[in-house]
This record gives sequence, C-alpha cells and structure tokens, in this order.
Amino acid sequence: MKPKILALLGSSLPEGNTAKLLKQAIKGAEKAGCEVTLIDVPSLELSSCRQLYYCKQQSSCIMEDDMNSVYPLLKTMDSLIIATPVMTMGVPGHLKSLMDRCQVFYYAKYERKESLIPKEKKKTRKTLLLSISGMNLPDIFDGIKNSTIAFCDIIDCKLADELLIRDMDNKVDLDRYPDLMKEAFDKGFVLGSALTNQS
Ligand SMILES: Cc1cc2nc3c(=O)[nH]c(=O)nc-3n(C[C@H](O)[C@H](O)[C@H](O)COP(=O)(O)O)c2cc1C
Repeated sequence: MKPKILALLGSSLPEGNTAKLLKQAIKGAEKAGCEVTLIDVPSLELSSCRQLYYCKQQSSCIMEDDMNSVYPLLKTMDSLIIATPVMTMGVPGHLKSLMDRCQVFYYAKYERKESLIPKEKKKTRKTLLLSISGMNLPDIFDGIKNSTIAFCDIIDCKLADELLIRDMDNKVDLDRYPDLMKEAFDKGFVLGSALTNQS
C-alpha cells in the first residue's frame, strides 16, 4: 500500500498561484510513490470552534459538519502538505477554522495523554508548508508560521520544510517562475521519498 499524504489547499482559487504551487508538490510526492488526497478547504462546510469543550473528555467534536470526514484523514495520513496564501497577515479563515477544530487532538494529546495518532505514524510524519504573500515585508509569514507550527505540534506532524514566496503582487503569475515551480515539485518529492524509502 502506498503511503498517504494529505494536501490542504487554503486558497479559494483552484487556478490561483497557491493551487499551482500545490499541484507541483503533489506531482513530486506522487512521483516518489505516494498517494495524495487533496482537500479544497474553502469548499468545506465547517464552522469555527464554538468552545463547547466536548473534546476535553471525548475524542471527537460535538459539532456535526465536514470536519467529521477530515478528522479520520488527519489521523491516518502519513504526511501533510499545507498550501496557503497569507490573508490579513495570517492563515485564511476557513483553513484557520480547520486548524482550530483540531483542538480535539490537543486535549487528547496534552490533557488526557492519549494521543489519537497511531504510535508508529507519530514519529515519522512530516509537514511541508507552501505559502504565498502579496506583499514583500520581512515578517509577512510570521502569522502563518506560528499557527502552522502550533497546528503541526497538536496533530503530531512536525513542520519539516517550507517554501515561502513573497511579493506575489509584483510577481503576478507563478508560471513565469519555473524555478519556484520546480522547487515545489522537488520538496513534494523529498517529502514523499522520506515515506517510500522507509516502507
Ligand atoms: C482577503 C485577502 C487578504 C490578504 N491579506 C494579505 C496580507 O495581509 N498580506 C499579504 O502579503 N498579502 C495578502 N493578500 C494577498 C494574497 O496573499 C496574495 O494575493 C496571494 O497571491 C493569493 O494567492 P492565491 O491567488 O493563490 O489565492 C490577501 C489577499 C486576500 C484575498
């Protein structure tokens, strides 16, 4: 069986620059022999965390929405790719809500000390972060990075690699930057190879 990689797209634009970058990374991971499941996060029907705290005691969320089908994928994946634009200096709303809803994993791991992630997967799974900003500021990815590191820690899928592309408002179209597209492919390949070489 091929190792499973989950890919989360945070942009609403299926043909946008973030999606293009993600497509390259997916191709790389597939070339390495992995099976990739793509989730178009903005199209999910999901609410933000309402702080009902059901997950303090239970290993699930009391709210019924598309997160019901995302949780099993987050538990069983072997690695993760997150591809997101910067919005208002951080993670776009829908993707951030998905991350916040993973408090289910937080309480299991840190409070009840009974992680929901299979032991054998915990040690090996890794996250590749791809992100794009419109502006060109030195700290433009700080918000995305901080949220991603916390999220990856909570779901036991350590942030291992990243490709952060700034100044997209001036670059306009990533098709004009084949080196960056190749870099995304290569990083996807490396993420996938780490799994296929060990299986
Ligand atoms: C609602 C919204 C908020 C944004 N906020 C920021 C921001 O705070 N900083 C920034 O550098 N770019 C910001 N951008 C620009 C996007 O990061 C940029 O256009 C990116 O290329 C979008 O990627 P996509 O076309 O693949 O979705 C914002 C874009 C939108 C739509």
